[in-house]
Amino acid sequence: MKQDTSERKIVIEQNKRFSQSCLWRMQREYFDKEGINAWVNQVPFYITSNPYIAKCYAEIVMSFIRDTIKTNPEAKKNPFYILELGTGSGRFSYYVLKTIAELQKSLGLEDVSICYIMSDFTKHNIQYYETHPALIPFIEKGMVDFALYDMETERPITLLKKNIRLGTDTLVNPLIVFANYIFDTISHDSFAVHDGKLYELLLTISTPENNMHDNKAVEMDKLSIDYGVHEVKGSYYNDPHLDSILDLYKTSLNDTSFLFPIGSIHAIKLLKKLAQNKLFIISSDKGYSAMEQLENLGHPTLSFHGSFSMMVNFHAIATYFKNSGGDYFLQTPRKGIKTSVFYTEALAHTMPETRVAIEKYVEGLSPADYFTLHRRMSDAFQECSLDTIAAHLNFTGWDPHIYLKLASRVNSLVGESDADTVNFIANNLHKMAANYYYMPKSDCVLFEIAVYFHSIKRYDDALKYYLEAKKFVGEQFGLYYNLALCQHHLGHNADALENFKQALKQDENSKETQEWVTYIEKALAEKS
Ligand SMILES: C[S@@+](CC[C@H](N)C(=O)[O-])C[C@H]1O[C@@H](n2cnc3c(N)ncnc32)[C@H](O)[C@@H]1O
Repeated sequence: MKQDTSERKIVIEQNKRFSQSCLWRMQREYFDKEGINAWVNQVPFYITSNPYIAKCYAEIVMSFIRDTIKTNPEAKKNPFYILELGTGSGRFSYYVLKTIAELQKSLGLEDVSICYIMSDFTKHNIQYYETHPALIPFIEKGMVDFALYDMETERPITLLKKNIRLGTDTLVNPLIVFANYIFDTISHDSFAVHDGKLYELLLTISTPENNMHDNKAVEMDKLSIDYGVHEVKGSYYNDPHLDSILDLYKTSLNDTSFLFPIGSIHAIKLLKKLAQNKLFIISSDKGYSAMEQLENLGHPTLSFHGSFSMMVNFHAIATYFKNSGGDYFLQTPRKGIKTSVFYTEALAHTMPETRVAIEKYVEGLSPADYFTLHRRMSDAFQECSLDTIAAHLNFTGWDPHIYLKLASRVNSLVGESDADTVNFIANNLHKMAANYYYMPKSDCVLFEIAVYFHSIKRYDDALKYYLEAKKFVGEQFGLYYNLALCQHHLGHNADALENFKQALKQDENSKETQEWVTYIEKALAEKS
């Protein structure tokens, strides 16, 4: 009789401090192995990688740069570095770069040198950015650079294109940092408070025996975590700034468990040092932004989605900044991700325009609010008329990701909708095309844009976008066939014939295509 190995559990580690657990190694191995494929139906990305959140960040950053230059006009003589941590797919980076460049132009700040550093710990992601067609113009302008930076280490951060290190020589202006969905990904410690006492939560991790290969667990979502408690007496971190936060929780909270984002705080410390205490961070992540939210929580849970993530204790990061003379702005609690801004002492009193922008884009219509509204619309678009869809597309900043979800509804409505709406969409589709950021195994919005123009008989525009789409989608029956139809309508029958023949190569059984070939050959023969 065979033994059921799925039932037998192997203990992988026992009573470990959370930040020293093997979980973090497994997390890094996952991202390193998957590279860019992590964002193909695995790790969620849309909430932090859409044109709206990029606009929020770009507006805040340009206000911050203006404030800095107003306080110190000499600042213009040196570059402003923006470091993105745990960049991921690079889609957010592209939107933010594009919006910053547009704002620089409209605000007359093109003479300000901005260097945007896309960093990640895995070279596989960096290699993807370095050759990405959307990023190449920014690379050529010198506006974007790359860095291999593992936030769990204290190694220097070197810009791969410019071959310079971030440090006292380079960072004359404040260092601006973006941290999206990364504080939830790197190491945490875990604690509990009960009856005025503070406890460290120690992890025991086990998994079914059949999830083990070469002495290692294979799938992270098959891990089970149990917590043991151990009272903390005296100083835990031997760092007064950090220990005082634990003390605050011990005395202010009654009965709860909480996470302490120790990996993120270590990285922030390093960045503060590099930037000589002039650090400005914007971060969006799932998490807690108020002390009340930390009360009555059960032991921490991990969410698995290819990688794993946990709730970020933004309150602890904010308190860390406050304790060391800086300040913060935490979005008031609401459902969804939280956007937070942190800054060091040297910047705390000089940011009037930045404060206005934060009020508008963090507390006002925040990335979280945008996402909530978008989700409701995405659920309902089958009931929407074209004018509502057009307004929504405008609201999303002509986002290809959204258009791909509702393109079939748009195509079904175009014929019966009013001319103003149809033209409004048509006249803005170039913005959507400019927002296209290629990702493997994903649909190409350029093709859908071409279909829209095709359906409203704007064959020149349709042709242009079919040809652009060809660079990304490659040899496809539908592409050749549609190209040929547009060329025929434009009177380019020789080209049309060539593309109908290409379509036939893709699908030799297509009767319609065969008929077109015969028809056009005849027409061409009659003409000559
Ligand atoms: C959850 S993804 C977030 C990606 C992107 N920021 C977003 O919002 O979609 C985490 C990213 O951080 C990177 N990462 C994981 N551990 C890291 C570490 N220790 N240091 C730097 N980057 C890390 C991963 O490769 C991945 O690109």
